[in-house]
Amino acid sequence: VRAIGFSKDFAGKRILVTAGATQEAIDPVRYITNHSTGKMGYEIAKAAHFRGAEVTLVSGETALSVPPGIEFVQVISAEEMYRACTELASSCDVIIKAAAVADYRPAHTAEQKMKKGGELTIPLIQNKDILKELGQVKRSGQILVGFCMETQNLLENAEKKLNAKNLDMICANTIGTPGAGFGTDTNTITLLTKNGAKIPLPNMSKFDAGMKILDEVLKLNGEK
Ligand code: CTP
Ligand code: CA
Repeated sequence: VRAIGFSKDFAGKRILVTAGATQEAIDPVRYITNHSTGKMGYEIAKAAHFRGAEVTLVSGETALSVPPGIEFVQVISAEEMYRACTELASSCDVIIKAAAVADYRPAHTAEQKMKKGGELTIPLIQNKDILKELGQVKRSGQILVGFCMETQNLLENAEKKLNAKNLDMICANTIGTPGAGFGTDTNTITLLTKNGAKIPLPNMSKFDAGMKILDEVLKLNGEK
């Protein structure tokens, strides 16, 4: 019902959205992950669909239902997300990486369930930085948007990531304030663009925040 009246200003555009946390297997019954629930990414995907975009949602495991009308790719690990994204990226006009990708994975996944006993150390190795790699192969006209969550120096770190990953925009996520962060239906974010704009958004639903992100994407597209 909410879709009625939305202008189809993303008609003809292909958008790739990633969402949710990745899971990095320790053994067949255990994994490393984070608190991401996928809500922000799913709401962006819905908003883009309502505005007429052709949307592909690459998602880690979540408790959310698949939004209608979009292409859905289920992944588990960061490595699977990397493969899905690199395969899809070149055909997309806009890429929005809301997923919380695990930075590390166990160096080896045990084939059998590990048994307890004594102190345990699990060696970890770094996952590929999907966003950074997409930034390196970004084609002209393509818009690349990242997310960033920090517990300190949010805007400073967001700006560093914007530059280091060759992004057009980064959405800096507030953590620790009411109605923002993991699992909530609302969010408080600041959009930083490569043109130096800093746009603090008030607390709003994740759907509305998704709409604002898409508004800025269109502006960036026009400025190219
Ligand atoms: N990201 C990614 N692949 C990774 C890690 C992060 O694509 N292996 C993306 C996330 O989807 C997000 C952005 O990079 O859009 C920023 O993620 P964040 O965790 O805030 O930054 P990192 O670069 O991983 O740095 P750190 O965790 O050390 O702060
Ligand atoms: Ca990280």
